[in-house]
Amino acid sequence: MLLKEIKDIFHKELGDIYPKEEVDSFFYACIEHYLKLERFILAIQPGITLTKEEEQPLFEALSKLKLEKPLQYILGTAHFMDLELRVDENVLIPRPETEELVQWILDDCQKEERSKSDAERPPAARAGSRSVISTPLNDRSLQILDIGTGSGCIAIALAKHLTNAKVYALDVSQGALTVAKKNAESNKVDITFLKHDILDPELVLELDFDIIVSNPPYVRELEKEKIKRNVKDFEPATALFVSDEDPLLFYKAIMDFSKKHLKENGRLYFEINQYLGKETEALFKAHNFSEIELRKDIFGNDRMLKAIKK
Ligand SMILES: C[S@@+](CC[C@H](N)C(=O)[O-])C[C@H]1O[C@@H](n2cnc3c(N)ncnc32)[C@H](O)[C@@H]1O
Repeated sequence: MLLKEIKDIFHKELGDIYPKEEVDSFFYACIEHYLKLERFILAIQPGITLTKEEEQPLFEALSKLKLEKPLQYILGTAHFMDLELRVDENVLIPRPETEELVQWILDDCQKEERSKSDAERPPAARAGSRSVISTPLNDRSLQILDIGTGSGCIAIALAKHLTNAKVYALDVSQGALTVAKKNAESNKVDITFLKHDILDPELVLELDFDIIVSNPPYVRELEKEKIKRNVKDFEPATALFVSDEDPLLFYKAIMDFSKKHLKENGRLYFEINQYLGKETEALFKAHNFSEIELRKDIFGNDRMLKAIKK
């Protein structure tokens, strides 16, 4: 069959479910993934035909897309910052908002390194241009913990960019940890994975951290209706939902954990429920945390929070 005809079938079969641009992007992602064909192939070779064997995975993907299965689960891969990660139904598909959270941590670490390097340089050298950094960035070993690591996206991105940091990643789900470990291997970073329940009040680790980061479950049951079918039906419920009665449960548990395991002046970074920004901020204000900062994501929603332990 002509590749062009298969593209038309994608549009005919999926046109009622997804916008045209999304169907295009599904089609091109599938031909790239299964056949290693670039998206401009139809422009330069409009008459390209496929064998039955080559067509088969495209039609299989099409039937899963019709059931609204997310493309990342169909192909088994997702992109996060500059990383390629494998994903399956044991892990949440990494979101662009979470990239913003990681970028916030990287920016803060870079600023901190700059100011430490400045302070260590002799005054004469300090008077010069700020763009001259005598000490390489990231040369001090930071202890970092990612709680609820899922695919490992946050931990792996931090380990990749903060090359001398020691990164730990914790999850309660063995399925998620198996995926995250494979992702750490394929991205060539060294991460220590821990299987624990962060809600266990008895949890004690023989470790303390400079940075604790988490994108914990935060979607309330009452928000389920607003959530798209492809998320609700396919992504792991334990990664997403919390009860309406105690939606900040994970933030409280991580705050208690931080009282034991975050160093003084250590930093906490969270992804948060956009509807609970003020409540989450108030929780940290009421405890021993300072310099609490709420940040919006690119869509203008309250999405991230940082707090420093004093
Ligand atoms: C919203 S997902 C975040 C996954 C990943 N960090 C990301 O940003 O894409 C939350 C993660 O928390 C994990 N989780 C849920 N309950 C947990 C618990 N009690 N203790 C530790 N991890 C938990 C889930 O398995 C899931 O991987």
